[in-house]
Amino acid sequence: MSLVRESMRRFFSSKTLHIRRLLSISKSRQSSSTVTLMSGDGVGPEISTAVQKIFAAAKVPIDWDPVDVTPVRTPDGKTTIPQSVLDSIDKNKVGLKGPLATEIGKGHVSLNLTLRRVFDLYANIRPCLSLPGLQTLYNNVNLVTVRENTEGEYSGIEHMVVDGVVQSIKLITRNASLRVAEFAFAHATANNRQLVTAVHKANIMRMTDGLFLKCCREVADRYSDIKYEEVFLDTVCLAMVQDPSQFDVLVMPNLYGDILSDLCAGLVGGLGVTPSGNIGQNGVAIFEAVHGTAPDIAGQDKANPTALLLSAVMMLRHMELNNFADRIESAVLETIKAKETRTVDIGGMASCSQFTESICNKLQQ
Ligand code: NAI
Repeated sequence: MSLVRESMRRFFSSKTLHIRRLLSISKSRQSSSTVTLMSGDGVGPEISTAVQKIFAAAKVPIDWDPVDVTPVRTPDGKTTIPQSVLDSIDKNKVGLKGPLATEIGKGHVSLNLTLRRVFDLYANIRPCLSLPGLQTLYNNVNLVTVRENTEGEYSGIEHMVVDGVVQSIKLITRNASLRVAEFAFAHATANNRQLVTAVHKANIMRMTDGLFLKCCREVADRYSDIKYEEVFLDTVCLAMVQDPSQFDVLVMPNLYGDILSDLCAGLVGGLGVTPSGNIGQNGVAIFEAVHGTAPDIAGQDKANPTALLLSAVMMLRHMELNNFADRIESAVLETIKAKETRTVDIGGMASCSQFTESICNKLQQ
């Protein structure tokens, strides 16, 4: 029991530390049309440059604040995200992020996880839409996954009970469940969507997933125009690969969302074309490509910038620059549909630069 208490104490004190750190930098809070740009590692700089060129071609009225996310070492020998990056995001409130390499091993805390914790990025949203002309097994996908982003199995509450026996705790709170459910229903309403599906395993995890469902029901009661259903995770996976068109908005705890959102990306052409956004409690939002650093093609001008570009389009809508978002989105979709300048990962022969140039040309016509 004391082991569990100790793990919980560490979890909550690390949260408090992050919040204190955030408070210490939040005095200069101001909103602007400046976006913190974290190009990231591997193919990150190539796809970030592509986004910047396309934004320039579309004359998007924002300024970029490029920051270097190369991890720095803390006094206790661990690596973490530089304070200057946190300061920039705190000031600008909006960030665009390329992929970050996470070293595996002791002392390396995931930088992505750090950003989620520091800015309490509680909802991860990923639209999955069949792209016109891009042949996949399905041509009628139009759904959104909303993943609780801060707790569940990813709370990091783990310890060794005795040698050879380890324990990990799934933490579900009413507060985090209510706010992600609220986000899902508000998103459904704002985007004329009809159905919210809560994905769960409350038949097995009666208390944790049970609480998550209870919170979803409470929120559903306030949104009488939106249909609400609860479906087991395994049933959703089966139904999703049989007929994804039966889903609309799906909301779920952290681990299920991590897995299911990648599955959904696979339905529409993979991680190279899937955008995502992370919405925070304190007005901060960070938009990012969901793929990794692609070390096998980094530096070769072969990366597909679509995922980061569509994430940037989501960002523009978040910033209420809808006209620019619509124009850029149309130019990307037309370029993919036309086939001539598709990148290799989606069946073409073009380089990242050629694909980018083709989109810029469409925007400048
Ligand atoms: P990955 O997504 O980097 O690569 C998987 C495959 O997809 C590779 O064949 C790669 O060439 C291809 N691919 C990925 N993005 C592409 C793009 N934009 N255009 C064309 N092809 C693309 O996954 P992997 O190899 O497991 O991870 C590599 C590194 O990325 C690791 O250090 C990992 O920790 C990190 N990573 C970071 C993420 C983030 O910052 N959000 C997410 C996933 C992984």
